[in-house]
Amino acid sequence: MSAALENPSLLSLAAGFTDNGSLPLSCVNAAVEEIAQKDLKETLQYGSNQGRPRLRELLSEHLNQWEPELAVTPDSNSFFVTNGSQQAIYLAMQVLCEPGDIVLVDRPSYFVFLEMLKAMGVRAVSIPVDENGFIDGAGLAALLNRFQATGDSVRIKAVYVVSYYSNPSSRCLNSEEKSALATVLLANGLIVPVIEDAAYRDLYFSEKPETKSMLGMKVWDDFPKLYLSTLTKPFATGLKVGYGFCTDSDWLARMLHTKGHHDFGSANFCQAILERVIADGRFERQLSVIRPMYGRKMCVLHETLLHEGLEELGWSWSKPEGGLYLWLKGPEAIDTSLESKFCRSCIAAGVLYVPGGLCFDDDGPSNYVRLSYGVLNEAELGEAGRRFVRVAREFVS
Ligand SMILES: Cc1ncc(COP(=O)(O)O)c(C=O)c1O
Repeated sequence: MSAALENPSLLSLAAGFTDNGSLPLSCVNAAVEEIAQKDLKETLQYGSNQGRPRLRELLSEHLNQWEPELAVTPDSNSFFVTNGSQQAIYLAMQVLCEPGDIVLVDRPSYFVFLEMLKAMGVRAVSIPVDENGFIDGAGLAALLNRFQATGDSVRIKAVYVVSYYSNPSSRCLNSEEKSALATVLLANGLIVPVIEDAAYRDLYFSEKPETKSMLGMKVWDDFPKLYLSTLTKPFATGLKVGYGFCTDSDWLARMLHTKGHHDFGSANFCQAILERVIADGRFERQLSVIRPMYGRKMCVLHETLLHEGLEELGWSWSKPEGGLYLWLKGPEAIDTSLESKFCRSCIAAGVLYVPGGLCFDDDGPSNYVRLSYGVLNEAELGEAGRRFVRVAREFVS
């Protein structure tokens, strides 16, 4: 993989990076100048472990825009600012899990999270889904029964789902799925902490996703919940500011305690930039630019694959309504894993993808591929798509 990345003509559909051309350069420049004139001293000092109070207040307003009935109060003590939402996920796992524990995860799931669990010696177990990828309540009940029988139920320490325009599937969980998940857990007496990763919620192309977060659903009332999201993908990944909203004060206190050991607070200056651009509306304006832009980029890649005949070669995928990824299912016989011939042929043809097998727990299929349209421009996406289909054609028989 690293040798491949040294090839300058390689087009990467693998990295979950964001679009270069639309980065908010002038917006950040202006914010930095304003900070330099007014708050430079304060922002060049350490901030607080939990994050800038004004930023947390703005984040509570942002969450209230999504779900007004939540009426999150502006004192916002349930919010904490992190080094990207990645740190919030890590903190959550670090304080909840021991080696040998189990976390129930969506299927497919965020592969970096799965790798993290593996490194911690924690077992990821997929929440069963039906043939259309929807959460299968009956399948989950059966799985939990099996854990009950083996005595493993007590090792289930958390549930993790990427609920909006998921990485990698770009699917949103609907209300029925979220309810079914809670109902089956409750029926099995499993009131464990739930992590709802909403990293891509702001990245819809044109229509806002309708489904409420678990925070706003009655059926989840009794569960400790960590809702997390990020300001990286919707604004600037390099500023690396993310956040969590935790409903359980004890869990939150333990995460903050551990965060103190990581860094005693995320970069104050980066937070100050975000605080400014959210407060004066520039963050929302940036979103209004990038939402349709990602929609167009998705269409370029999607239409290239269609036009080049990938469907006729036995591949299928859904057209997403937000997020950064196309999630492709290849013919059963195709192995897309890192060591596979298919992967090597793609690299030789100058195109890189994320092998879908990385996005499943241990017994996952190996004929999926994740393609990101985040970073390449439209012309490059067209070329990368054509290269990918050329390789897929070689593997038809
Ligand atoms: C589902 C999901 N969650 C969390 C993250 C972490 O992103 P960040 O740390 O930039 O907020 C990512 C990054 O790709 C992601 O795909």
